[in-house]
Amino acid sequence: MQVEKNIQLKAYNSFRTEAVAKLFGKPESAKDITEILKQYPDEEKLILGSGCNLFFTKDYDGIVIKPNITGIKTLSEDDFGIEIEVGAAEDWDSFVEHCVTNGWAGIENLSLIPGSVGAAPIQNIGAYGAEVKDVITQVNTIDIDTEEVVVFDNKSCMFDYRNSIFKQTRKYIITSVVFRLSKSFTYRERYIDLNNELQSIASPTLSDVRNAVIKVRTRKLPNHIDLPNAGSFFKNPILTSQQKETLLNILPNAPIYNAGEQLYKTSAAFLIEKAGYKGKRNGNVGTYEKHALIIVNYGTSKGKDIAAFMQEIQKVVQAKYGITLEPEVWVF
Ligand code: EPU
Repeated sequence: MQVEKNIQLKAYNSFRTEAVAKLFGKPESAKDITEILKQYPDEEKLILGSGCNLFFTKDYDGIVIKPNITGIKTLSEDDFGIEIEVGAAEDWDSFVEHCVTNGWAGIENLSLIPGSVGAAPIQNIGAYGAEVKDVITQVNTIDIDTEEVVVFDNKSCMFDYRNSIFKQTRKYIITSVVFRLSKSFTYRERYIDLNNELQSIASPTLSDVRNAVIKVRTRKLPNHIDLPNAGSFFKNPILTSQQKETLLNILPNAPIYNAGEQLYKTSAAFLIEKAGYKGKRNGNVGTYEKHALIIVNYGTSKGKDIAAFMQEIQKVVQAKYGITLEPEVWVF
């Protein structure tokens, strides 16, 4: 297993910031991963998917491991559904397309989300009323510290809004994910933007839904190839009843959604917009003009510039509305 030295990470993160990794390995199998872990027990480790949800503010003094495990395998199938195991390095949206083409339902709302299959469970990716946790039956991993294979069933993944045990502990390398998808499909209205897009179709098919999601996303969100970004930069904040009341006193039309017992979610994009930061640009970093939740890199090579803009937004929103915006993106 070849491990390279002093590798530039600019091509490996969708914000395109520059940083050098002291060591860099691309294991092709679970066995390769174990070998690297055994070879470098004392180095700090960073596991990289397609780098669509992180950026670097400094060089990485450790080993970056980018698993290159691919393949889609059917584990079981009946008249109602199919269970498939997918390698962590498969491209997420190509996998969604594969499922839609085959008539397997469950992830069509998650079309066009950038990233790899292995990254999907880490932050429980979600869009248009769907979350990936609802179709994952198993996640296969390797424990970074013990080098052992650890298999998680759905419950032990501890999925939550943009969260999981993998994000909390950062100690497992995901090698493959098992999904249970359904062979029947009826469109359920769950998200206004998507309903509007599908209005003219009496009973939308899986392909109709995928196409509609692609249209809505293309309209609202910048493509990271043209305009480097990492999708939603902050999580939508979860509020207690008291925080919700305080916010509604300042911003009476703030969107409020139920988020569990006595908990409420509001829109980070709305808060950023009301704070005057939609489409705002500070040097080479700014928020996207069509969506306040997306931070865009207009030409800096320094992750520090992005981190500084992030902190500026956090400070302003905190001062105006008393709410702490938590980044959804990982900063290294
Ligand atoms: N809004 C504004 N200003 C804006 C944009 C949006 O006020 O500039 C408000 C509007 O009230 C709008 C509401 O925010 O109705 C919701 O906007 P959107 O549908 O874009 O959803 P979001 O809450 O901003 C979340 C996810 C997205 C996902 C969309 C669609 C998070 C952190 N983000 O964004 O996920 O695509 O819903 O379901 O939960 C991502 O995680 O990278 C991501 C793009």
